[in-house]
Amino acid sequence: MRRSASLPLAVVAGGVAALGYAAGYELHSYRLRRVEVPVLKPGSRPLRVLHVSDLHLRPGQRRKREWVRALAGLEPDLVVNTGDNLAHQRAVPAVLDALGPLLERPGVFVLGSNDYYEPVLKNPARYLLPNGGPTLSSPLLPWGDLRDGLTSAGWLDLNNARTRIKADHREIEVVGTDDPHIRRDRYADVAGPADTTADLSLGVVHAPYRRVLDPMTTDGFGLILAGHTHGGQLCVPVFGALVTNCDLPRGQAKGLSVHRAGNGPGARSLLHVSAGLGTSPYAPVRFACPPEATLLTLVAGPDRL
Ligand SMILES: [Fe+2]
Repeated sequence: MRRSASLPLAVVAGGVAALGYAAGYELHSYRLRRVEVPVLKPGSRPLRVLHVSDLHLRPGQRRKREWVRALAGLEPDLVVNTGDNLAHQRAVPAVLDALGPLLERPGVFVLGSNDYYEPVLKNPARYLLPNGGPTLSSPLLPWGDLRDGLTSAGWLDLNNARTRIKADHREIEVVGTDDPHIRRDRYADVAGPADTTADLSLGVVHAPYRRVLDPMTTDGFGLILAGHTHGGQLCVPVFGALVTNCDLPRGQAKGLSVHRAGNGPGARSLLHVSAGLGTSPYAPVRFACPPEATLLTLVAGPDRL
């Protein structure tokens, strides 16, 4: 009798301890991951790209703001922001303050669903359901102010756009879409073969849905950066992410992987998914998946993946 009564208590105590760790420690345990990416043309010197994503910032999150501001000390050649910056109606000044020193460097961005819609209280279990979608009836956030703040500082808006940017004297062709998670992507409007005279062809998207990754890949964009997944957010040690909240396989929830858009030559790209730096204010837990930014060092790679 005593034994069977103590088991639930142990389970409850273990659950409370895990929740305390996930919400109290890991949520604020910001990490910089460093990854080498063999994607440049043979003979190229390295290019340093800082990938930040999913800040989900609210006014007053001082520790997160200061950590992001300090990333400028890495002196990246290019900054890529893959969206979901906002988590509050008054968060735009906080985001622009956090990114302030990085805005002095060449940068590009796309927006995510959480830049458009105010976070709402939902059943946290929805996060673990496949493709648990956003609530499009939520009040709109001031995403136009965010976009204007970023573009007026010189960053390029890649929401359904294609252009070139110069970083460390290299010519980079960049293409991006608005967020596929809320069906704002219009890749057909910007599709077309990558410019082989550029030093790099880079694709950028918030939620890494295959309907965007596939045509970017077959167009010849050799590296694609995305966010949205939060790396799974609640992960199982060793096993990894339980969900990606999109149609990307679980094993690609964060980090660098090869994306295959088919079997033929030219049907592969390198995909980097950031686990991001925040969470919804209504699901403030991370487990076995600390918040992160990534310094990608691009180096010369093989002619063909
Ligand atoms: Fe997010």
